[in-house]
Amino acid sequence: MSSDDPEAFLRQVYGATDGEELASIYDDWATRYDSDLTGFGYRNPAVAAGLIGRHVDTASGTLLDAGCGTGLLGEILSHMGYHDLSGIDLSQGMLDQAAAKSVYANLQQMALGTDLAFEDGRFSAVVSFGVLTAGHAPPQSLDEMIRITKPGGYLIFSLSNLVYEPLGFKDKLASLNAEGRWHEIERTAFFPVLPGSVSEATVESCIFVFQTSPAKATPNP
Ligand SMILES: C[S@@+](CC[C@H](N)C(=O)[O-])C[C@H]1O[C@@H](n2cnc3c(N)ncnc32)[C@H](O)[C@@H]1O
Repeated sequence: MSSDDPEAFLRQVYGATDGEELASIYDDWATRYDSDLTGFGYRNPAVAAGLIGRHVDTASGTLLDAGCGTGLLGEILSHMGYHDLSGIDLSQGMLDQAAAKSVYANLQQMALGTDLAFEDGRFSAVVSFGVLTAGHAPPQSLDEMIRITKPGGYLIFSLSNLVYEPLGFKDKLASLNAEGRWHEIERTAFFPVLPGSVSEATVESCIFVFQTSPAKATPNP
């Protein structure tokens, strides 16, 4: 990979044809991901941290960063007092970078869009930024993300303008609401997510906050 093209990895990840190729590209990107994203002015971690701080108590239980990457968000959350953090990611190279930050109690290689190896209601909140997107994790990932969130817990995640309607995320959010599985608490406006990048300067991100439905009361016998 030529080091004089800072956007080469950014373009490559959206051209991957399967999960194996995508993981391999992120493995190669991992050691320079943080400096590249910082150079592009990556906005998700700052906005995400504000919303997580607004809704999720630091003592409410374990927070899962799904597609945690190198742990840019986890590092910020640890500074905010969130010390019960777990992370999953497709790429072992990205997980290794996250582990080096020493802010996640547990890190596991796992793929959104497949069955997740966590029990029902395991997490107080599941957050995911830059992951529910083209060629990464499909709208159906949200079913498992809800299952592993405790009743009354939070799901906070970003969707870009490129995928929100075109890839069926808008319809999926609405159908989960119609099924009574969650309700929307708030969403941001769409904002430029990588304003310093050339190839993605016009891409906008919206961050959503949903709360899962409370547990159904068990009827008395
Ligand atoms: C754009 S990076 C975002 C990383 C981190 N959330 C951040 O905001 O910096 C996307 C991450 O999602 C991971 N990823 C892609 N597809 C995934 C999937 N299906 N399940 C879990 N992680 C996935 C990639 O390995 C990569 O680390």
